[in-house]
Amino acid sequence: MKKKRSGVLRPEGPDKLRGLARYVDDLPFPGGLHGATLRSTVPRGRIRAIRFDPDFPWDECVTATAADIPGQNCVALIEEDQPLLADGEVRHAMEPIVLVAHAERHRVYEALGHIHVEYEPLEPVLSMEDALEAKVPVRAPDNVIKRISIDKGDVDGALAGADVVVEGEYRVPHQEQAYIENQGMTARFEEDGTLLVEGSLQCPYYVQKALVRAFALPKEKVRVVQATTGGGFGGKEEYPSMVAGHAALLARKAGRPVKIVYDRTEDMVATTKRHPARVRHRTGLTREGKLVAQDIDVLMDGGAYATLSPVVLSRGALHATGPYECPNVRVRACMVATNTPPNGAFRGFGAPQTLFAAELHWERIAGALKKDALRLRRLNLVREGSETATGQVLHESVGARDVLEAVVRRGRYSEKKREYARWNRSRRHPSWRGIGVSVCHHGAGFTGSGEAFLASRVALALTRKGEIRVLTSSTEIGQGTIAAFTGLAARTLGVPEEWVTIERADTGLVPDSGPTVASRTCMIVGGLVERAAQRLRERILESTGRMPSTRAEMVREARRLCGREPALRVEEQYTHPPEIRWDEETYRGDAYPVYGYGATVVDLEVDRTTFEVRVRRLTTAVDVGRALSPRLVEGQVMGGVTQALGYALLENADYHDGVMQNPQLTNYLIPTALDTPPLDVMIVQRPYSRGPLGAKGVGELPMDIPAPAVAAAVHDATGLLLTELPILPERILEAFSSDPAHRQR
Ligand code: MOS
Repeated sequence: MKKKRSGVLRPEGPDKLRGLARYVDDLPFPGGLHGATLRSTVPRGRIRAIRFDPDFPWDECVTATAADIPGQNCVALIEEDQPLLADGEVRHAMEPIVLVAHAERHRVYEALGHIHVEYEPLEPVLSMEDALEAKVPVRAPDNVIKRISIDKGDVDGALAGADVVVEGEYRVPHQEQAYIENQGMTARFEEDGTLLVEGSLQCPYYVQKALVRAFALPKEKVRVVQATTGGGFGGKEEYPSMVAGHAALLARKAGRPVKIVYDRTEDMVATTKRHPARVRHRTGLTREGKLVAQDIDVLMDGGAYATLSPVVLSRGALHATGPYECPNVRVRACMVATNTPPNGAFRGFGAPQTLFAAELHWERIAGALKKDALRLRRLNLVREGSETATGQVLHESVGARDVLEAVVRRGRYSEKKREYARWNRSRRHPSWRGIGVSVCHHGAGFTGSGEAFLASRVALALTRKGEIRVLTSSTEIGQGTIAAFTGLAARTLGVPEEWVTIERADTGLVPDSGPTVASRTCMIVGGLVERAAQRLRERILESTGRMPSTRAEMVREARRLCGREPALRVEEQYTHPPEIRWDEETYRGDAYPVYGYGATVVDLEVDRTTFEVRVRRLTTAVDVGRALSPRLVEGQVMGGVTQALGYALLENADYHDGVMQNPQLTNYLIPTALDTPPLDVMIVQRPYSRGPLGAKGVGELPMDIPAPAVAAAVHDATGLLLTELPILPERILEAFSSDPAHRQR
């Protein structure tokens, strides 16, 4: 039987599928130059000299160094520590030093080979642990980018009185966003002096802010336009400001448009990754398995500059307990600086790191208490009325138990656990089989007072042609912004979707709706679209008494409503609900407006000879409030869990001397269709009263869940608890050989 599908189609989809969509490298580019970047070859050093080979025809090229920057030499974001071009010192390998532009792309790369930088090398710090010891100062005074403390109750007292205390340490590596389209940007100065940049990006107003600072221009003179973008996953959140700054610097000097498009290797070796982390747990429990204390230590590697690291650490710390209620909690989180390329935003934003530890730790606890990890979770999961580590009371839309029970049933967790125990006892099979489960929460929207500070705006315009235009700076990066906003506006107005168009994210046309990050687009910006649509609907109804039902009627009414103006425009701005309170100093209060919940059952087998892991089936349930478009939610979940399978099993960024050694997709492996198991997705609807039509955030949650369930399933299959990702065959082999208890298997 054909499954009934609901939800809107994706207006931008067909052009992307047929190859008609124009990405930045496809845009017409008459008279333009191609730019490229010379990068440092040492992880830390002082620049003694930059030499240009006298034999090279430099008159064909345009070059730029830090000395050419008209404003402040920084990529403005949270801190202003990261230079647009290194000046005097380099703090990581692959740091940009010199820019070159040439009319022919191949010549610009040739030119790079004729520039030589002489360094006075300095001793680098290449690991988080070394940075923490601060033997070498990378960043004054103590190599610490940010520290966060969360305190609830009396942890030491509770640990002293606990029946059992279980300790564990967990490690997660770098991860590459691996969007399909690499970083790319064009820049040109218009006749009136306006700097116009267009390219692949998530956050047009972030790029504008950075360019205003670096070029000492007023905001109105910097226009940032999103081109069709081939994926972001957080990787187009901060780095596009760097690429845009470089293209603009060359364009300014050349007096011509300049385009910079990275190839895959440059993109992987030089741009941001997910932060590696080490997480330690010390957990006190009653004999029955009830949590009495969680003592958690989080260490993350920020790389050489701050980028978004302080907020990544914040989200990591706030998710470190997992979705459980515990009366006594202490989280100590620390982000250190190392001489490696800066790490930054990546789907999940600190949460996949700490949730991996929190969830896998249940396997250890289960072993210590000789109880099933599933039963222990059931005993401790948050419910309505629960209080989190920051003292936030979860008033509504708490689907943690529902998603867990849904995957346990559909994934046949308990039956398979028994069945696989029998399977593994028999030596007839070429593999071991195992099943694992995890359940996670993900805060939707900016952390703490973030949304109040952003004060996002959106506008809706009814044009004289009877068209509804939605004006936001939220970007379509493959996740479905266009479809979601089209559906929301049309449904709220009570008009067909064909009457609604979404304006492109162009700072010259749309108000600042904040960045497209933090699982906030649907819930926060969508909420503003809904409110603006309600107001526009009221305006139309006031004048006409009912909603026009034909386009001709709509055009007539629109003309009347617009009067002499080209459009009737309504604008909405985010107002923070006063009952959501957060104290940034004490880390007490409502860390997020609401949380999404998700659970996964992973069913896998491990080859007894090669130790390769094959995932047989992955069953996921999510509570994202009301699913505005179930099909888009399913798509987000399928993409996110697959990305998480890569994190768990394949993706192995190999660093030596502070440089990624495998910056190509032939040896940094991400899941392909053949690596992707059957994916079973269930949507559990627990509407959220403040979300548009009840919706919460969707995008990041699926990335959090699968990795700990994979590790738990490998544990179930082999008896080995692998506490470091990725779980490569060689790691399993190593664990077997170093664990005498398992040599027999
Ligand atoms: Mo992001 S990782 O684009 O919040």
